[in-house]
Amino acid sequence: MSERPYVTLSCAMSIDGYLDSAEPARLAMSNAADLDRVDAVRAHHDAIMVGASTVRRDNPRLLVRDAARRARRLATGRYESPAKVTVTASGELSPDAAFFTTGDGPRIVYCPRERATAVRDRLGDRATVVGLGEDCVTMAALVEHLGAQEGVRSLMVEGGGTVLTQFLSADLVDELHLVVAPFFVGEARAPRVVGPAAYPWTAGRRAHLADTRQIGDVVLLRYALSERFGMLDARESATGAEALAAQAADAEAVTAELP
Ligand SMILES: NC(=O)c1ccc[n+]([C@@H]2O[C@H](COP(=O)([O-])OP(=O)(O)OC[C@H]3O[C@@H](n4cnc5c(N)ncnc54)[C@H](OP(=O)(O)O)[C@@H]3O)[C@@H](O)[C@H]2O)c1
Repeated sequence: MSERPYVTLSCAMSIDGYLDSAEPARLAMSNAADLDRVDAVRAHHDAIMVGASTVRRDNPRLLVRDAARRARRLATGRYESPAKVTVTASGELSPDAAFFTTGDGPRIVYCPRERATAVRDRLGDRATVVGLGEDCVTMAALVEHLGAQEGVRSLMVEGGGTVLTQFLSADLVDELHLVVAPFFVGEARAPRVVGPAAYPWTAGRRAHLADTRQIGDVVLLRYALSERFGMLDARESATGAEALAAQAADAEAVTAELP
């Protein structure tokens, strides 16, 4: 059995713990410098995942934006941007969503086994559709499949709350990047960063806060949630001097943008 991919959760929330507002237009939580940091983190992962609601609501491209980072990925034998992964039970995904029409990497859709044929018919050659499980897909099975069948060694999960809740409560996360934006949402119908669940970290078993960083008007909290924390940094370093230089350049670029 292959080692399960290194999992990084990354999201931004309001002071009162919401991922978005309930209004039709998406609420921007982050600022430009933090979005650039997220871009650098994306560039270090093999795959990026969001839930199907995020694909429908936000229509994200999920690409590495910075040209130099894309070039470095190509130079080390990777796609310009990570593979894209989503999960759906309903199968309600449009083949014309930016998730499927942008970028050079693979797109993988997980769904319950009995939905797989219908989802394949709907998406055609725009994605690889993988049927896993009966009524819903467990995140443990999804991560296992990504590692063993798709060659994914690192996965960045960007939301939304339904997906974040499942990864965290299943104890599948190696590190959490939580950004706090300087405002309140205060709407009961808005999506929360996570929902009710049995989480491994409680008042009796506190998570390890590995780092904090102010990035303009937001703050980044970096939590170590497994003994493998930091392994991705070490792995990236092991790919050679070029990758090391690239990481340093990314870090300098982000620092330079800070006020
Ligand atoms: N602030 C941030 O950093 C950030 C990041 C990402 C997203 N967001 C926001 O988060 C909101 C969406 O969050 P959300 O919690 O509503 O949705 P979500 O987590 O993006 O997606 C939930 C959907 O994923 C599918 N799904 C989840 N778990 C599944 C499982 N185990 N098996 C099968 N399918 C599964 C289902 O799709 P089907 O309905 O198709 O069955 C479900 O409705 C949006 O407002 C978005 O803007 C914010």
